[in-house]
Amino acid sequence: MKEETGDAEVAVVVRGLTKAYGGKAVVDDVSFTVHKGEFFGLLGPNGAGKTTTLEMIEGLRRPDGGSVSLLGLSPWPRNTSLLTRIGVQLQSSAFFERLTAREQLTTFGALYGADTDRTEELLALVGLTEQAETREDKLSGGQRQRLSIACALVHDPEILFLDEPTASLDPQARRNLWDVLRGIREQGKTIVYTTHYIEEAERLCDRIAILDGGGVIAMDTPTELISGLGRPTSMELPTSVIGPDDVRRLPGVEEVTEEDGRVSFRAADPGSLMQALTEKGIAGSLQIRAASLEDVFLELTGREYRS
Ligand SMILES: Nc1ncnc2c1ncn2[C@@H]1O[C@H](COP(=O)(O)OP(=O)(O)OP(=O)(O)O)[C@@H](O)[C@H]1O
Ligand SMILES: [Mg+2]
Repeated sequence: MKEETGDAEVAVVVRGLTKAYGGKAVVDDVSFTVHKGEFFGLLGPNGAGKTTTLEMIEGLRRPDGGSVSLLGLSPWPRNTSLLTRIGVQLQSSAFFERLTAREQLTTFGALYGADTDRTEELLALVGLTEQAETREDKLSGGQRQRLSIACALVHDPEILFLDEPTASLDPQARRNLWDVLRGIREQGKTIVYTTHYIEEAERLCDRIAILDGGGVIAMDTPTELISGLGRPTSMELPTSVIGPDDVRRLPGVEEVTEEDGRVSFRAADPGSLMQALTEKGIAGSLQIRAASLEDVFLELTGREYRS
């Protein structure tokens, strides 16, 4: 993997990044590299240090220690030549008062001195063409979220930073936004984003850094993170159908646990298991649960992921 700061393939290099508030390290020796065209996710519970890390990369906060290279340049002290090359959506979005969705975009475009008017294209990209004439304060939460992403894109940046773009969206709006983000990535942009949604990061990201307590506790592709658990797929049956003692008597069954009305276990030989369940007439009750990033987090921290 290429790691050099000046490398043309590299978008972001973070080395030993540290930030403390009130004597407590909230970002503690964080290092990672984001390659151009990559969709990179920072995942972690509340207070993990995601926003602080992101804002140091964006040049909005000064690191106490370590280094950041953004497109080969240092973002701090404020480097204005980077402003036109990066798009930033903050955790709390700020809009101009009393302007419509379309006017927000043209105003942001003018501020950035964007050469071409991409307003209509961006409204369509984030699915707000019909709301073009709606004032920003009359948009729904999800629509505002999408408008803020469009605003971060007006100057056609190379890298897009998004801080919890899918927070507080309903499932439908979240899925729409996933399509928007995938579309942006397909245009060859680099995306660095934060999220609480573990299954979302699994679907969207090329690579994920899991942050906890200010440090990176795991970093890899979602597939590698999960397969690194070396955990076979687990199975579940409701206790209303079969009790844990009877499950233990099934062929090749291991690691039987009971919780919340379900018996979980692993099967060394799924073929024989299915045959036994079919004979008992309960094969249809079997549920299969593949290992997830949630399991990775649990394994690493010994506690459940709580966003
Ligand atoms: N300006 C600040 N002054 C003091 N403490 C801060 C400041 N900014 C962040 N912190 C603290 O640093 C820690 C990390 O905060 P940060 O906002 O980076 O977390 P996060 O991972 O983005 O969390 P969330 O998921 O809630 O957005 C928290 O304990 C927070 O209280
Ligand atoms: Mg945050």
